Amino acid sequence: MNSIERVKIGIPELDDLLHGGFIKNSSTVITGGVGTGKTILSLQFLWNGAKTYNEPGLLITIDESPAELRREAAMFGWDLKELEEANPPLLAIIDIATPRAGLPSDERYTLRELDLPLIIKKIYDTHKEINAKRAVVDSLSALGFRYDSLGKIRSIIFQLTSFLNELEVTSLMTVESPENSSISRFGIEEFLAQGVIQLFLRNDDAGNLKRNLQIRKMRSTQHSLKNFFFEISDKGIVILSG
Ligand SMILES: Nc1ncnc2c1ncn2[C@@H]1O[C@H](COP(=O)(O)OP(=O)(O)OP(=O)(O)O)[C@@H](O)[C@H]1O
Ligand SMILES: [Mg+2]
Repeated sequence: MNSIERVKIGIPELDDLLHGGFIKNSSTVITGGVGTGKTILSLQFLWNGAKTYNEPGLLITIDESPAELRREAAMFGWDLKELEEANPPLLAIIDIATPRAGLPSDERYTLRELDLPLIIKKIYDTHKEINAKRAVVDSLSALGFRYDSLGKIRSIIFQLTSFLNELEVTSLMTVESPENSSISRFGIEEFLAQGVIQLFLRNDDAGNLKRNLQIRKMRSTQHSLKNFFFEISDKGIVILSG
């Protein structure tokens, strides 16, 4: 029997919850409110992929500038520049955030418009250059806001996830979800992705906010449905308990 190939996040407890990691070439949505750890989890996936598994990654950043991301990553000891400058490169960051903010970008990979066909072309070209095995789109919500109808949003998400799957990369897409409401901003992203991981903050019995993680969906595989606590330590995301 053929076993399904897995792509490890490199957070042992989380890989265990997923019975070995993400399914190769699948797309998973990471959903959560502001500051719940979506970007950090995505960076950890790319960092571990490069350092531990020698898999090049593509990071499409729509909200935060590459400079901010490099700074944030450095706090956990993840030197993104080192990956970008490796030969062959282990990371390429496509900067859509800086031009979107109306600022000039001196990044190597940059895109001036938040436009799906242009994004797809840029990912295609960059993928050819670095042979990426992993990709992150942070965040998909920003892309969705450009389009006014749900049908259109559904269509762009479908195109992007199908395209990434076709390129044979395993991808994560972050989606901002308003607190205490449906899983995602538009309520549809999760149905198009193969998997959904939800991050959220909730008060414990003593009234302290705790970080929670739940795997809501993972097509074609078993996974835990339990609620897990995690923390963001100086080494990134660490799962505490179920
Ligand atoms: N070096 C650090 N050590 C510990 N915790 C940190 C560190 N840096 C950030 N954090 C925590 O992580 C949170 C931000 O995480 P992250 O940027 O991944 O959130 P996010 O879900 O992507 O948020 P947004 O929706 O704003 O993009 C901060 O609010 C803070 O609580
Ligand atoms: Mg973020």
